[in-house]
Amino acid sequence: MKIDIVSVFPEYFEVLNLSLLGKAQEKGLVEVTAHNLRDWTHDVHHSVDDTPVGGGAGMVMKPEVWSECLDELLHLEPTTVTCDSTADADDTASADAAEPAESATEIAANADTVPATDRPVLIFPNPSAPLFTQQDATELSHADHLLFGCGRYEGYDARIPRYYRAQGVDVREYSIGDYVLNGGEVAVSVMLEAITRLLPGFMGNAASIVEESYTGENALLEHRQYTKPADWRGIKVPDVLLSGDHAKVDRFRRDEALAKTNELRPDLIEALDCSKLDKADRKTLMALGWEVSGAHPRQR
Ligand code: ADE
Repeated sequence: MKIDIVSVFPEYFEVLNLSLLGKAQEKGLVEVTAHNLRDWTHDVHHSVDDTPVGGGAGMVMKPEVWSECLDELLHLEPTTVTCDSTADADDTASADAAEPAESATEIAANADTVPATDRPVLIFPNPSAPLFTQQDATELSHADHLLFGCGRYEGYDARIPRYYRAQGVDVREYSIGDYVLNGGEVAVSVMLEAITRLLPGFMGNAASIVEESYTGENALLEHRQYTKPADWRGIKVPDVLLSGDHAKVDRFRRDEALAKTNELRPDLIEALDCSKLDKADRKTLMALGWEVSGAHPRQR
């Protein structure tokens, strides 16, 4: 997987040479390059931002600098597109050089269903975008080329993602949580870690990915984990985990995952597919106050 990151603080990404991601780069599983957006500026101040049109606080990242950079990294020729100046998802843009085959709506619909593979995916972290989930990480782990653009200040000109969508690029905007950071760098590190650890050969133990929280179609929070000693400062590991009875251990962990998810993330219980629950799951959920006769559990 090839990963390009564009930022005004490319040094921030030196941290990616550490730990498992560093090893994955050494093994040739991923190739990460951090670029300095200012390398695509032409003025003496290397400015990448300007005041917001319509007024307001802060500065907005300029489209011209970003487009010179992104055209080069995506091997695209500059062109002009015509799209509705207010609509976003409905852009049916026509380009001078190459007529895009799909509207932005079609591209977005495809992107949801078809795992990203051979076409590059351009990703902008943005606090005002849909939340990045494990499902997105899984889908993006199938891509050959990811290109992350880190915004700073009040963000980037809204025409940038629209233009590249109109060029047929798979463009995504994601928030990593309901809080505002100073820039996209931390968000990109978070997304990158979630994506790259899913690459085949990245993790020593692939089974740990299968068992962890948010994984699979019926995602639950993971059960608690313990190691030795069995009694530490008066707190004991649950007996069943020491019993050697694998079926009982599995059931105990599953029930604990259901109980923990019920307490902390009832929205995940509501999203479960009841047809995929076994008899014991149903019994546990009913004891926790859920009705499990419909398509999804409902609180009684
Ligand atoms: N940039 C600033 N805040 C962010 C957030 N919460 N998620 C993604 N990008 C951001």
